[in-house]
Amino acid sequence: MSDKQNFLKRLQRSGKYFAHPPMAWVTALICLVIVSIAEPMVPALLQPLLDKGFKQNSFPVWMVPVALIGLYSVRGVSMFVGQVCIAKATNQGLLRLRMAMFERLQDASLDLYRTQNASTLGNTLVYEVQTGAQMLVGSCMSLFRDSLTLLALIGYLLYLNWQLSLIVALLIPSVGFLMKAMSKRLYGLTRSNQSATDQLAYVVEESALAYREIRLHAAQNLQARRFEHLGRMLERLTMKMAVASSGITPLTQLFAAIALSAVISVALLQSQDSNMTVGGFASFVTAMLMLVNPIKHLSEIAGPITRGLAALERGLELIENTPQESGGQHRCGQARGHIQWENIGVHYQEDHPWALRGVNLEVQPGETVALVGSSGSGKTTLANLLPRFVDWTEGDLKLDGVSVRDWQLTDLRRQFAMVSQSVVVLNDSLATNVALGQTPEPSKVLECLEAANLGDYLRSLPQGIETVVGHNASSMSGGQRQRLAIARALYKDAPILILDEATSALDNESERMVQEALQRLQQGKTTLIIAHRLSTIESADRIVVMDSGRVIEMGSHASLLANNGAYAAMFKLKSATHDQTAEA
Ligand SMILES: Nc1ncnc2c1ncn2[C@@H]1O[C@H](COP(=O)(O)OP(=O)(O)OP(=O)(O)O)[C@@H](O)[C@H]1O
Ligand SMILES: [Mg+2]
Repeated sequence: MSDKQNFLKRLQRSGKYFAHPPMAWVTALICLVIVSIAEPMVPALLQPLLDKGFKQNSFPVWMVPVALIGLYSVRGVSMFVGQVCIAKATNQGLLRLRMAMFERLQDASLDLYRTQNASTLGNTLVYEVQTGAQMLVGSCMSLFRDSLTLLALIGYLLYLNWQLSLIVALLIPSVGFLMKAMSKRLYGLTRSNQSATDQLAYVVEESALAYREIRLHAAQNLQARRFEHLGRMLERLTMKMAVASSGITPLTQLFAAIALSAVISVALLQSQDSNMTVGGFASFVTAMLMLVNPIKHLSEIAGPITRGLAALERGLELIENTPQESGGQHRCGQARGHIQWENIGVHYQEDHPWALRGVNLEVQPGETVALVGSSGSGKTTLANLLPRFVDWTEGDLKLDGVSVRDWQLTDLRRQFAMVSQSVVVLNDSLATNVALGQTPEPSKVLECLEAANLGDYLRSLPQGIETVVGHNASSMSGGQRQRLAIARALYKDAPILILDEATSALDNESERMVQEALQRLQQGKTTLIIAHRLSTIESADRIVVMDSGRVIEMGSHASLLANNGAYAAMFKLKSATHDQTAEA
């Protein structure tokens, strides 16, 4: 009983996406009822045909084709309309479910992207729910139609001979028991199968992502072994599923055969001393044999229902169990740009060292602050706290005196233009990429691309700003991609600018030109610059030197050099290597 309730509850959970439009379901159900009732009409027509049809003049001959064609026309039309209605409701439900899942991906807490990979999410949103919905709706409809057909046929049989009800009554619970036991096993197998499929897709995703590295390091064999291992695992699981679901059908059919033979034997025995007509007997046997089809369908239904439900539930779990990103209530159109890191500590993972610890830093509106320090010292982490790409473990971070956690997320993120260390570009036109999130204004797009020193590149493109850049702009060079990100930052024109190695992929000449554009952009804005090339930050108002997650020095270029500390050492080292390369 609890299993059944559970099942209904689970159906209900997916049901809310698939319940609309209700008229489609009502029409489909009416059509299915007509189809099921039409079923015993065939044997019912047989009886008068056999009993009276072969006697002269008992009824006109034309009635036979009229009745048969009429019956099959009604049945055919109902079947067609019913199926179209079901397809409509299923596909609309699927769209609703997919939209809800995608919406959740967009507002999910960023942890989702650290725990799940792209292929798993793609698999769930694209394939799983589609197969799941089709299997589940298809089998639920078959459950409804075949149960009705079965009932109609049994009703007709009982009308002909009630004693047989006992035998039929034995058949149904035994099939039910079998289905329950099998579907439990199938459910577990389906779940393992899904995760094995994900892992397999992940190897493919990775191989596509790192194809150059794999070729260069001759790691094909390693990838092939991983793929083979997972492929074999999937094969074993699929075989187990095939065995389990193939077993159900012959077993139930055996039950059906036992019951059928008992029914037929009893009917035959009875017919010897009852006054059953030939027509009555023929239609009885026909109806009896027609029972096999719905019973067969019903016996096969456990597999697709279980598999469909498990697949849909994966989508539902994504919607229901993924925490949303939580923002505050503070609203503000344009921030002044006063930033305070107060005793900030960031701890990414339990057993890892702190990425930032006890950082205190205040940036005044309009100030340009540069962050320098060795790789891994926490510069990117410090900047990523601002748009809340990373959450801090202790301390507080304030923008305009309000904790960043209390800011409404869209308002908060509107305040930052960011050129990050790894540029990611959408597979869309240059214009869309530059204006990202806003409707592109061609003249402004052109102006920004020009300012980001992409003018020459743009003129070499026949389609100009409407050129589609391809998967992560693979047709552009690293430096061009970086300049595209700079154009994007210029277009956004936000009060706070974060430049994380924004010009690292550029040659000296392009860098100088982009620097000019950036300096123009920095006018009146709060700017955070992270750069390894110290030449790019000498003009900053303040330089913050970081090491192992802590701020170790702070001041202007000149005062830091005078201090003769870590920055001065770094500067001397850089100048020395620079002199050497210049001499060589
Ligand atoms: N998502 C993450 N999960 C766990 N640890 C992380 C994560 N991101 C960064 N770290 C760790 O935090 C520390 C600081 O990293 P961060 O990226 O801030 O350094 P960085 O100063 O920007 O270095 P670089 O100059 O190389 O860009 C590093 O030790 C890094 O391993
Ligand atoms: Mg970094």
